[in-house]
Amino acid sequence: MTKTPRSRRAAAPTLEMPAPPDRRRFRTRLLTWYGRHGRDLPWRTTDDPYHILVSEIMLQQTQVDRVLPKYHEWLGKFPSLHALASADETHVADTWRPLGYNIRPRRLQAIAREAVEKYDGRLPDDEATLLSFKGIGQYTAGAIRSFAFRQRAAILDTNVARVLFRIFVGSGDPKSHAMKKHLWAVSEVMMPQKQVFDFNQALMDFGAMVCVARNPKCLVCPMSKDCLSYQTGPINARP
Ligand code: ADE
Repeated sequence: MTKTPRSRRAAAPTLEMPAPPDRRRFRTRLLTWYGRHGRDLPWRTTDDPYHILVSEIMLQQTQVDRVLPKYHEWLGKFPSLHALASADETHVADTWRPLGYNIRPRRLQAIAREAVEKYDGRLPDDEATLLSFKGIGQYTAGAIRSFAFRQRAAILDTNVARVLFRIFVGSGDPKSHAMKKHLWAVSEVMMPQKQVFDFNQALMDFGAMVCVARNPKCLVCPMSKDCLSYQTGPINARP
């Protein structure tokens, strides 16, 4: 295969941070939209770090509708990190099973045991310690910090990455390492000083309800005027 000389390869788009007025407009529009259309979900009426951890791990590979009954059942059976840490492993696996038997229940129980052994049965609130748990990555750490501890912590999952990419970037490879790094930085600068809980939940709902992967609802989208992807033509199955 012949290589294109570096000088003739298409230049990677410059990844610029949204300007402060664009950030403010986005925050206001997103929070207004969320106030009207946000979903009423049980993990949004708690700031218990364990409840939030359970919901986030369940939601990692499973749709909200399937998680809802399981979330309540799980917390009924294992109401605290202590209860989960000392529970019978087969009982834990059986309770989880309809969500897909995989590594997640074991990870969750391992997190509970570590929290009991090292942190008196509580989840720590700082990023470095959260990341030291197997099964808690950057996204889950951000979710726990912003939802349970109301810290100004960014999140980036597939839905949020798609929203931020479409609105603020619009071209380039959305899956590249450089783009992910950029989108994390965008998610961080977008965070408001207050309302971090609502802001992050709103980002997720917006990605799940309006800026969906296929056939996004651009015609009713409050961001479409400012959306770089929308400006270049209708978005269908584009990233
Ligand atoms: N997916 C992951 N976390 C979520 C949350 N908190 N609300 C809705 N969907 C989610």
